[in-house]
Amino acid sequence: MHNRRDIDLRAAINAVSDVVQNRPRPLRELDQIYMKTGDMVLQSELVAKWADKKRLAFIGDGDAISVCVSYLKHRGIFDYGPSEVAVFDFDERICGAIARFADKERIETLGSTLYNVLDAFPKLGDFDCFYTNPPWGASNDGASVNVFVQRGMEAVGCDGEGMIVIADDHQIEWPQRVLASVQSFALSRDFFVQKMASKLHLYHLDDNPDLRSCNLLIKSLPGAPCPESSSAITDSERLENFYGHKQDIRIKYVREKKRVDYGKAHDDEYRYEYYGDQ
Ligand SMILES: C[S@@+](CC[C@H](N)C(=O)[O-])C[C@H]1O[C@@H](n2cnc3c(N)ncnc32)[C@H](O)[C@@H]1O
Repeated sequence: MHNRRDIDLRAAINAVSDVVQNRPRPLRELDQIYMKTGDMVLQSELVAKWADKKRLAFIGDGDAISVCVSYLKHRGIFDYGPSEVAVFDFDERICGAIARFADKERIETLGSTLYNVLDAFPKLGDFDCFYTNPPWGASNDGASVNVFVQRGMEAVGCDGEGMIVIADDHQIEWPQRVLASVQSFALSRDFFVQKMASKLHLYHLDDNPDLRSCNLLIKSLPGAPCPESSSAITDSERLENFYGHKQDIRIKYVREKKRVDYGKAHDDEYRYEYYGDQ
């Protein structure tokens, strides 16, 4: 049991605000939809406690919970948190923003790798736990979630835990189907569901601002066989409608064209009109 002090809430919110300033703008067509800031603070505390002293892999992380967890621990706002955090994301802007933030703040425990979940996972079994907030699989019964979950399982090998953040609404059909599909995928891969914390987080989602997500916690079964290798995923059934209806997965990487300071206005979005101008 940990004997924990209360956190300094103002310092925590301000630190998360530093992280939010550093996030690239989301690409809606690739299901990048960011979690709201208050929920990020609470989620970061939960993740830092859950992964205390562990090696944690993020399979995709536009939200930047990885950065929050590492930064809050580094600043001493949390006195718990993972010993190592590695983000695997196919968006070079996200990987770059994480690497630059870690470098600026001298956070040696945080790193990022450009990686597409369709490719073989490069660090089989190197981690104790994984976190993923994947595309939510509304149009493919959770197949896209299960691709991310599979990579998380490979990250922890045959001994570890995962936190899966997906839609949770019991009035609409698709989130319930996805929840069932992800839980049965976990069981089929020798993981069991430890806990589900329902309807926790809200998002900057224009067409459904009330849709919440849950934390679904899974754990490997004792004595489960270890994966010996990881391979590319090419099965067309798992790739259809990946990011939504008729949005199959065809992009390998999102490349960064121009390095921008996300916290400042870009010079192509405004102009000055001076006194005396005609
Ligand atoms: C799809 S979003 C899901 C919503 C989540 N709230 C967010 O915006 O981070 C999760 C992350 O997965 C990444 N991602 C999407 N497709 C990917 C792929 N094929 N391989 C690796 N990462 C991917 C995105 O860049 C993003 O950072």
